[in-house]
Amino acid sequence: MNQPAVVDQNVVADRDAPAYVKNQKLIDWVQRVAALTKPDRIEWCDGSEEEYDRLSQQMVDAGTLKRLNPAKRPNSYLACSDPSDVARVEDRTFICSARASQAGPTNNWIDPAEMRLTLDGLFDGCMTGRTMFVVPFSMGPLGSPIAHISVELTDSPYVVTNMRIMTRMGRAVYDVLGAGGEFVPCLHSVGAPLQAGQKDVPWPCNDTKYIVHFPESREIWSFGSGYGGNALLGKKCFALRIASTMGRDEGWLAEHMLILGVTSPEGRKYHVAAAFPSACGKTNFAMLIPPQDMAGWKVSTIGDDIAWIKPGRDGRLYAINPEAGYFGVAPGTSEKTNFNAMATLKENVIFTNVALTDDGDVWWEGMTDTPPAHLIDWQGNDWTPESGKKAAHSNARFTAPAAQCPSIDADWENPAGVAIDAFIFGGRRSDTVPLVTEARNWNEGVYMAATMGSETTAATVGQQGVVRRDPFAMLPFCGYNMSDYFGHWLKVGERLEKLDARLPKFFCVNWFRKGDDGKFVWPGFGDNMRVLSWMIGRIEGTAQGEEHAFGLSPRFEDIDWGALDLTREQFERVVFVQDSAWRAELELHNELFTKLAQGLPDELAETKAGIEKRLSA
Ligand code: GTP
Ligand code: SPV
Ligand code: MN
Repeated sequence: MNQPAVVDQNVVADRDAPAYVKNQKLIDWVQRVAALTKPDRIEWCDGSEEEYDRLSQQMVDAGTLKRLNPAKRPNSYLACSDPSDVARVEDRTFICSARASQAGPTNNWIDPAEMRLTLDGLFDGCMTGRTMFVVPFSMGPLGSPIAHISVELTDSPYVVTNMRIMTRMGRAVYDVLGAGGEFVPCLHSVGAPLQAGQKDVPWPCNDTKYIVHFPESREIWSFGSGYGGNALLGKKCFALRIASTMGRDEGWLAEHMLILGVTSPEGRKYHVAAAFPSACGKTNFAMLIPPQDMAGWKVSTIGDDIAWIKPGRDGRLYAINPEAGYFGVAPGTSEKTNFNAMATLKENVIFTNVALTDDGDVWWEGMTDTPPAHLIDWQGNDWTPESGKKAAHSNARFTAPAAQCPSIDADWENPAGVAIDAFIFGGRRSDTVPLVTEARNWNEGVYMAATMGSETTAATVGQQGVVRRDPFAMLPFCGYNMSDYFGHWLKVGERLEKLDARLPKFFCVNWFRKGDDGKFVWPGFGDNMRVLSWMIGRIEGTAQGEEHAFGLSPRFEDIDWGALDLTREQFERVVFVQDSAWRAELELHNELFTKLAQGLPDELAETKAGIEKRLSA
């Protein structure tokens, strides 16, 4: 029975923990943070539907959320953020390890003692006039040996409701945590204290932003932003930056990867994990629907953004999706490009920075071929197709429960994870990089992933569309020195090789090569199944290809074309390896390696020498 007393116990303006919270370390930390941040009240979240509905209603009343038309989009809301708070802030993200060399040249580093002084100043009184929510959550199925527990303290009710969708959040976490269990402390504030009588704004935030990680003590402090990865601290901050350092210490991997299951027409099932940078197609690929002429194939979704991967006793790698929801890019998502995502979004969704239709539903660029005649854009202004600007922000997102995805894999919550057969790495490259290339071995695969480049996207504040090196799609997410991270990957391979197990294959893909007309040549989306089935053929030992300097790619006749009408010339366009372009590309690899020289494993230079030799042959 759900006694009302339980609810009251949680919402009273009382600073004491509910009786079911037994962890003294947690209770002490909450009291310490409250003494610093000085919230008006503390609310211990239980993860119940009642709590979700109540906080959502409070945000509707405050103007933070709009309730969408329940006939069109049941139990769903639209949040529109402050225009200054729309994406992750990489230049305000810090890895404060004891020494700068431990963070490495790709991370921002500040001496931890100095950073603590700064943060103590910023957080002093920063929750005045607000409620501090205590949000317990598990990354990974509750109680799974691969899962980890964390608690986020936040003054944002938007963060609380998003965390309830994105993680296993609520009272049951305390049972797993117990009196002596370990948790990763995550502290978050929008950085907008309210003085007595001061009216709140719909999206409080602060121009000063700090997203700070202390890898040694496994702590996260985030100030000034309420958006996405800046504020939902279970995601990039914990599940990637802190978890990658835990993985280094404990022999496992925390990666910016989707996980999918693929079943062949003969009924054999494989699992692949794929790393693409932000807004480069992970959600699409994870939910792929094979084209009709390949209807014998089946793709199922395990995760769309993050994979935690641990070696099993049998020498295979087992992966879980630590998340419980999708925080996916809205623009470009349609029934044509991602039918499964659209089905996932039917109800129980929080949309952020998309446009509002006149009948109380949502719209974004690419959702339909013809835009509605009138909308309210993400900034609250009237919009018509003639407005000449985007109705939804390019990094507009949806927060939706993973369980609602029609292609969800039966094993997506299996605490043991799924065995990985292949790793795929892919960036957004208009030229140079072929549609698909198989690495000859583990070390060459690590080289491929380490040297990956990609054009930057709206997922990050800053310049867009410029090529930058994004090793393993982890440039913004690796919690320690990138060279050591490469070394860790090489070591994992070495260890698995000793166990004589079947190692995953490595592939590099690029869906984004453009023709002279500036348009993508490869149709992408469902047709990516043709590339995936070639990879499965390579795993099974049946598919052929042709070696070039950089690895092995399929010839025209090696791909199942079915009903797709792609000419040999078009195929050439997306696979061909131009010597001059690759020499220029290797120069960029050089630049990366020069930057990462300290501690860079020798294997990478050796692999590069091999490629250069093959190029001149
Ligand atoms: P994060 O959530 O930011 O980590 O990114 P993600 O990798 O999950 O991004 P998502 O799948 O949401 O990518 C969205 C963008 O990629 C949209 O602009 C899509 O149209 C585009 N996209 C996805 N798949 C393809 C493809 O096969 N071809 C082309 N041309 N574009 C694609
Ligand atoms: C990404 O940018 O890679 C995301 C979105 O997945 S966020 O959670 O905001 O980092
Ligand atoms: Mn991501």
